[in-house]
Amino acid sequence: MVTINFTLNGRAVSCEVEATEVLVDMLRGRFGLTGTKKACGTGDCGACTVLLDGTAVRSCIYLAAMADGHDITTIEGVGSMEAPHVVQQAFADAGAVQCGYCTPGMVLTSIALLNRNPHPTEAEIRAALSGNLCRCTGYQKIIEAVQLAAARMDGN
Ligand code: FES
Ligand code: FES
Repeated sequence: MVTINFTLNGRAVSCEVEATEVLVDMLRGRFGLTGTKKACGTGDCGACTVLLDGTAVRSCIYLAAMADGHDITTIEGVGSMEAPHVVQQAFADAGAVQCGYCTPGMVLTSIALLNRNPHPTEAEIRAALSGNLCRCTGYQKIIEAVQLAAARMDGN
């Protein structure tokens, strides 16, 4: 076991983890943050995406021990039912959520994109989300949701 210290949704925390434990298992199992979904477990679907120092990472293929000293944001850290993040609200308003399993990863990947590129083209949105799979929506409404969020963040 190794002890790691990091920031989780704005709070300084520490945790003892196995050397082989992956981040998604630590977040779900030890912190109860089940908004981070584990689907493929092999880095292929994006459902387990979290932000690490603002960058979208797949927590099913990221060792928990490597989070030491970093800043982790899960979907629980970006908004709430009462006060959703602008990207979460845009997903709801654009009809971009069906079963919802992909949504936390989609939202976090979209936030990372908009933070580094506030005015993405449709092609840039599609490229950024290309590693996040959705079996329900057909993707078009997700693209529109990100465009809506970008416009709202811009004050339009
Ligand atoms: S569960 Fe991590 S990429 Fe699919
Ligand atoms: S809304 Fe069901 S997988 Fe995307």
